[in-house]
Order: sequence, then C-alpha cells, then structure tokens
Amino acid sequence: MSATIIDGKAIAAELREQLATEVAAFTDDSGITPHLAAVLVGEDPASAVYVRNKQRACEKASIRSTLHRLAAETTQDELLALVAELNADPNTHGILVQLPLPSQIDEQSVLDAVSPIKDVDCFHAENVGLMVQGRPRFLPCTPAGCQQLLLASGTQVAGAHAVVLGRSEIVGKPMGMMLVQRGAAANATVTICHSRTANLAEVTRQADIIVAAIGKPNFVTADMVKPGAVVIDVGINRVGEKLVGDVDYEAVRNVASAITPVPGGVGPMTIAMLLKNTLTAARLQAASA
Ligand code: GUN
Repeated sequence: MSATIIDGKAIAAELREQLATEVAAFTDDSGITPHLAAVLVGEDPASAVYVRNKQRACEKASIRSTLHRLAAETTQDELLALVAELNADPNTHGILVQLPLPSQIDEQSVLDAVSPIKDVDCFHAENVGLMVQGRPRFLPCTPAGCQQLLLASGTQVAGAHAVVLGRSEIVGKPMGMMLVQRGAAANATVTICHSRTANLAEVTRQADIIVAAIGKPNFVTADMVKPGAVVIDVGINRVGEKLVGDVDYEAVRNVASAITPVPGGVGPMTIAMLLKNTLTAARLQAASA
C-alpha cells in the first residue's frame, strides 16, 4: 500500500484564506485590526525562522503583528515587565512568547503571566483547564492543526484507537485530551505513550491513528505501524541540512493509509491555528470592552 499524502501546506493555505475573509469582516464591523505581539528572546536561529513565518502569515491575513526582540541575556524581570505591558495594551490582542527561553528565565512563570484572554498559544492553566473540560476558549495550535488534518483527510476518528507519542505540554498531552473529547475529529480511544512506556512498538501496532511528537528523527519505523493506519508526524528535526520528522517517512508510507510529510504537514497548520486564535482573542476582547 502506498499512503495518501496529507498535504498540510494546501490545507493550511485554504484555512488561511478563509481566516483572511473572517478577519476582513471583523475589521469592517468593529474597526479593530487583530494584533499579535510576538516575543523572541535570544538568537536561536530556528526560533527566529518560526517567528518570521508566523509574522508573514499574519500579514497575509491582515492581522497586525509586532515583534519584540530581546537580547539573550534578558532577565526574567525584564521579560515579565514586557509581558505586563502587552497585557495592559488594549491594542494588543494576542501574545506569543516563543519557546524555548534562555536558561536564566523560568518558562512557566512567564507563560503564567500572559493574560489568559491574550494567550493565543493556549499554554495558560486557565485555558488548558477550559480545553480539558470541553469548553475551550482557545485550542493549542499544534494539536488543533493535527485535528484539522484528520478532519480534512476524512479520517475516521470516532471509535478509533489513537496513539499519541509524547507527553509534552505543547503537543502530546493536549493532543490526547482533544482526541478523547466529544466532537469532530475526536471521540477516539486514546493512549499516550512516552519515554517510560513498556513495549512501545506493541502499543503503536494497535493504533488506527498515530500522532508522533517525541522529537526524535525517524523514530517511528514501519514495523511499529499497523497496515492502513493514519500517521501524523509533528516532529521537526534537523539532520545535517535536512529537516526530518519523527517518522521514517519513506518506509512508513508503504504501510500507512495516509501520512503527513515533513516539511509541509503539521507545521503550516500550527501557523493557521495561531491566526485563528488571534482572531478569536480580538473578538473576545472586543466583546468585553
Ligand atoms: N516553540 C515551539 N513550538 C512553539 C509554539 O507552538 N509556541 C511557542 N510560543 N513557542 C514554540
């Protein structure tokens, strides 16, 4: 079997077009231009590329974006002061603090300081709690992007066994919670696996859907995949000059029924979901003003 390739780039482009129309309508009605503030601390080249891509996508959707670039030696207090300023600014609707942060800064304290109503990453405990209870204010961007890929590819998720590899706060944990919820591209039976999972390949071979988010290049091999499974690859790993996912793509595509490529799979979807959250944030703030 040769898998259908789930084209995240094309699916994200369509979503972004729809969002641009919604942004234009919102701005026409309210006179408000949604505005995302991105905060980048230090010189990590990969983070700089991610933030630039997010900003470009904003511009194309007529969402204003401002980049706050801080030096690598920025203190926690300085960063918290900037977050407080952005929280208080009525013209800033979304705040994104790009991770990872330099080691002198406690990431959790910074993420906790972002106003929940501007938390377009959906990292704040209040927003995670609302999402887990099935009444989301925002959805976390990468898991929401994966869910949209399952929806767009027509994957049967209800009743399926979804195996999530990875328990990170950004992807694995929220992905598991979202797949188990009631709703579209959900109602799955979910197993979350991690570095201490016993007999991992036995578990993954039972999966109808695999979401790989462990950050290890080519970790999911063909023998770990049930024939006909749908494979969503969240990994972005640099191997020499090449970007590769967490899935051994060339081998697994001969076993799976559908698979996302890297690049061009989940990555563009994450950005589309960020735009959606920024519009949601602007709407919420307009309604409560
Ligand atoms: N670093 C890697 N992924 C993300 C993300 O989704 N949001 C932020 N803020 N930083 C990241």
